[in-house]
Amino acid sequence: MRSERWFMAAACAAGLFLSSQAVQAQGEVEVLHWWTSGGEAAAVGELKQSYEAEGGTWIDSPIAGGGGDAAMTALRARVVSGNPPAAVQLKGPGIQEWADQGALASVEDVAGENSWDEHLPEVLAGIMKFEGEYVAAPVNIHRVDWLWANPEVLARVDAEMPTTWEEFNAVADKLQAEGITPLAHGGQPWQDATLFEVLVLGIGGPDFYRSALVDLNEEALESQTMVDVFDQLRKLRGYVDPNFSGRDWNLATAMVMNGEAGFQIMGDWAKGEFLAAGKVPGKDFLCAAAPGNGFLLNSDSIAFFNVRDGDQQEGQKVLASLIMSPDFQESFNLAKGSIPARTDVALDAFDECAQRSRADLEAAIEADALLPSMAHEMAVPRTVRGEFMDVVTNFFNSDMSSQDAVETLSSAIERAQL
Ligand code: GAL
Repeated sequence: MRSERWFMAAACAAGLFLSSQAVQAQGEVEVLHWWTSGGEAAAVGELKQSYEAEGGTWIDSPIAGGGGDAAMTALRARVVSGNPPAAVQLKGPGIQEWADQGALASVEDVAGENSWDEHLPEVLAGIMKFEGEYVAAPVNIHRVDWLWANPEVLARVDAEMPTTWEEFNAVADKLQAEGITPLAHGGQPWQDATLFEVLVLGIGGPDFYRSALVDLNEEALESQTMVDVFDQLRKLRGYVDPNFSGRDWNLATAMVMNGEAGFQIMGDWAKGEFLAAGKVPGKDFLCAAAPGNGFLLNSDSIAFFNVRDGDQQEGQKVLASLIMSPDFQESFNLAKGSIPARTDVALDAFDECAQRSRADLEAAIEADALLPSMAHEMAVPRTVRGEFMDVVTNFFNSDMSSQDAVETLSSAIERAQL
C-alpha cells in the first residue's frame, strides 16, 4: 500500500514538473489589444486558441475603444511604470517610435528561420523592422477605403452602388427623401478622420493623398482640392442621423445590417461584424471600393516589448512564429474581415470582398497607389495624427467653413512639426 502511495506521489511530482516544462517550452504572453467587438473578438480568439493549442499561457489584456487610442494610452502607462506587456497590437510609426526608445525586442531569429522577407509585401516588411531587425509580426492587411451597403435599402430607391462621390450624393439624397439615414456613422475623432482620409484619396487621388497626408506638404494642405474634400465632408455630415455623436463604429455597421441606414464608409473590419452576424456578402450586404482609386493600407501587427521574464521571452518567439504561419494567417483573417499579410496564402476560402481587396492591393502596388492610413496610425507620428483628428472633428461638429478648415489644418500641422 505504502509503495503504491509513494508511486502515485512520484508520478504527480513528475507530471507537475513536465507540465511546467511544457509551459516553459511554449512560455506565456500577455497581449494588450483593442479587439473587443464581435468580429474583432472572434479573430483574436483564433490567435488565443492557436497559442494555447501550442501549450502556451495567454494572458488577455483587452482595452476597449475602436481605433486604439485608449489602448495606446494604457500602453504608455504600462511602459512608464516599467511593466510593459510582452505583446501589443501596434502599428506603423508607433512601432518605430517605441523601438527608437529601446522598448522593443527583436524576433529576427524567428523571422530569419521562417524567411519572413520572402512572404511579405516589401512595404509591410519595412514597417515591421527597426534597424534591419523584425520587432513586430503583421497579422493582416486591412483596407480602409471601403463602402458598405444594404442592398434592400438601395433597392427601395432603385439605386446601385455608387462609383463616384456625385453618384453617392445622388443616392444619399434619394434615401433621405424616403426618410432613410443615408450614412451610418459614429461621431468619434478616429471615425471622422477615416471619412476625411477616404475623401482625400477619393477626390485628390494617390499623389495628392501622399503629398498632403504623408509628406504634409503645405501647398497640398492649403489647396483648392483640400477645400473640395472638406466640401464633400460637409455633405457627408448632412447624411448622418441625429444620434451619430459618440456611436461606436460596430453599432454603425449594425445600422446598415438591419436596414436602418444605407451606407457605412469604414475599413473592412466592418466586414468582420457582418460575418460574425452570419450575413453573406453580395446577398445581405454589398462591399465596394469607396469612389476613387488607390488602396488605403491599415495593417495590424503585434509588437514585442522587452520583458525580463524568461517564460515571456519564450512565449514571444512562439507567438511570433504562430502569427506568421499560413494556417493562422487564414483563420484570423477569415474572421477579421481583412486579408492575410502573407502574400503566399491562397484566398480560396475567402469571399468576393477579400478577393477584390487582394486584386486591388496588387494593382495599387503596381501603380504606386498603395497609401498608408493616417487615421489608423500608419502614416504620421501620433502627435501629427492628433492635429488632423482635432481639425476634422471640429469641422464635422460645427459650421466651420471649408476654407477656414483648410487654413486651420495647415497651421496646426505646421505647429505639430516644430
Ligand atoms: C483599427 C484596427 C482594426 C480595428 C479598427 C476598429 O485601427 O487596425 O483592427 O480594430 O481599428 O477598432
